[in-house]
Amino acid sequence: MKISVSGKGGSGKSTITALLAREFARKNFNTLVIDSDESNTNLYHILNLDIMPTPLMEMVGGKQSIQRKLRQAVGFQFLSKGMTIDEIPDEFIQKKDKINLVVIGKILQSNEGCACPMGSLTKEFLKKLNLRNNEIAIADMEAGIEHFGRGIEDYVDVLVIAIEPSYESIGLALRIKELAEQSNIKKIFAVINYNKSVSQNIKEKIEKIIREKFELVFSIPYSEEILNFGIISEKFSESRDVRESVKCLATQILEEI
Ligand SMILES: Nc1ncnc2c1ncn2[C@@H]1O[C@H](COP(=O)(O)OP(=O)(O)OP(=O)(O)O)[C@@H](O)[C@H]1O
Ligand SMILES: [Mg+2]
Repeated sequence: MKISVSGKGGSGKSTITALLAREFARKNFNTLVIDSDESNTNLYHILNLDIMPTPLMEMVGGKQSIQRKLRQAVGFQFLSKGMTIDEIPDEFIQKKDKINLVVIGKILQSNEGCACPMGSLTKEFLKKLNLRNNEIAIADMEAGIEHFGRGIEDYVDVLVIAIEPSYESIGLALRIKELAEQSNIKKIFAVINYNKSVSQNIKEKIEKIIREKFELVFSIPYSEEILNFGIISEKFSESRDVRESVKCLATQILEEI
């Protein structure tokens, strides 16, 4: 199963990706996290991995390097025949406790050019990735809707839309839903992520709006632990109520597909 996590900037895409990956790993799935955000570099850290793997962009010959030709050969095999998680060369994947991470590419310098090649590579990667029955891939997408224009969502089964409690985020979620309905996605999950503390009254209003528009609605509570991690960057761990909410989401995803 291939899952993509989309939504407004800062709505909690990376947090939800990491929480879901941990839950699927607990359920004994070999889980591949695909970091498809070309700007932020902290996903490996949220996954409690020590380092970020070399971006796959390098595997297909993206940057200058002595090993360029060798990597291109491996990259060529990937682009032509596809690969399983096990076949991804060590340099490009970080593994820990059934969680694996690959990074598509990062813009690290000014004047490096646009992110279009990274979008194309994400699409090609999702298309050619061969998953076994006990494997799940989750892609943490860049903020916004550009990836829909690139057709990336044609190669995922499930879309998780992260929605923070804001007017813009709800509006964007509705736009994403419309776009997703034009793709090959089988199921759309709306996840209201309380990345800020709001009153019960506001919660009810948001949930009412979302439930009117989406069939599968879940929420993740506001969590001091998650916020704290974002600020002081220690080891990431979720509280019991966050874990329970993610467990419900993961279970439903597995049931729907
Ligand atoms: N449920 C939550 N409770 C408290 N804080 C949260 C929660 N979810 C996310 N946050 C905080 O909100 C911020 C944004 O979260 P995150 O980085 O996951 O969003 P994102 O959508 O991936 O952002 P970007 O668009 O920049 O990639 C982080 O500081 C994170 O710690
Ligand atoms: Mg992110």
